[in-house]
Amino acid sequence: MAELEQARAWIAAATSLAVLTGAGISAESGIPTFRGAGGLWRDYKPEELATPEAFARDPRLVWEWYNWRRELIAKAAPNAAHRALVELEKRKPGFTLITQNVDGLHDRAGSGKILKLHGDIWRMRCTACGANWSDRRAPLPKLPPHCACGGLARPGVVWFGEPLPDGMMKEAEHAASSAQVVLVIGTSAVVHPAASLIPCARQAGAKIIEINTEETAASARVDCALRGPAGELLPLLL
Ligand code: APR
Repeated sequence: MAELEQARAWIAAATSLAVLTGAGISAESGIPTFRGAGGLWRDYKPEELATPEAFARDPRLVWEWYNWRRELIAKAAPNAAHRALVELEKRKPGFTLITQNVDGLHDRAGSGKILKLHGDIWRMRCTACGANWSDRRAPLPKLPPHCACGGLARPGVVWFGEPLPDGMMKEAEHAASSAQVVLVIGTSAVVHPAASLIPCARQAGAKIIEINTEETAASARVDCALRGPAGELLPLLL
C-alpha cells in the first residue's frame, strides 16, 4: 500500500510531530464513538446531553449517561493504537498528544503529557463552590453526585458551548502549527475548535495523515488518508 509507505516515511523523517485523537482510537477498546453506527445512547445525540442546558434541565439524565460511559470505560483497556503513540513519543524529541477523549486511556497506556481538550470523565466539579476532584467509582453510588459542600457535582468535561480549559487551545495550536507531521486519528473532525487544528497545521506546512475507518469532514484536505482501524494501522506506521 503506497499510502502507508508514504506515511511511514514522513513519520520516520519528522523530528516534530503532533497527534490529534478522537473517540475512534478507543473504539477497539470497546468504547462506543459518539457519531456513526452504535454511537448513540438511548437515541440521544451527544449534542442533546453534553450541554449546560441539558444538565440544568435534567442533571440526573445527564449523569445516567456519564455513569453508563464511566462503567464501560472502567472495564476497557488501552489498545495497540494507544500503545503505539507511547512508542512514538519516546522516539520523537518534539511530540504533542492532543486528545478530544475524556476516557483516560492515553494516560493508562503510559503517554506523558496529554492536552485533554475536552477534560476528563474521572474528574468532578462542584457547580456551587467550584471545587474539583477525582472520583473513579463506576458506577457511582448515587445519582446525581454531590460535593462535600452539598452542591451538585458535574462531570469535569467540556460541554458544547463551553470554553476549553484555559490556554490549552493556544498550546495545541502552537504544537500543531510547529509540527512537521500531524496524525489525525479516529475523529469525525466536526467538533470545533478541536477540528480547526487540522487546517491550522496544514497552513503552517505540516503533512497531515488521517487514520480512520471512514471518510470524514477532514479527508478531502489531508495529505494522506489511511482507511482502517487505528489499532491495526498505527503500529504499521512505526
Ligand atoms: N479506528 C479509527 N477510526 C475509527 C475507528 C477505529 N477503530 N472506529 C471508528 N472510527 C472513527 C469513525 O469513523 C469516526 O470518524 O472515529 C470517528 C469517531 O467520531 P466521533 O464519534 O464524532 O468522535 P470525535 O470526533 O472524537 O467527537 C468529537 O464530540 O461529542 C463530542 O466531546 C465529544 O470529544 C467528542 C467530540
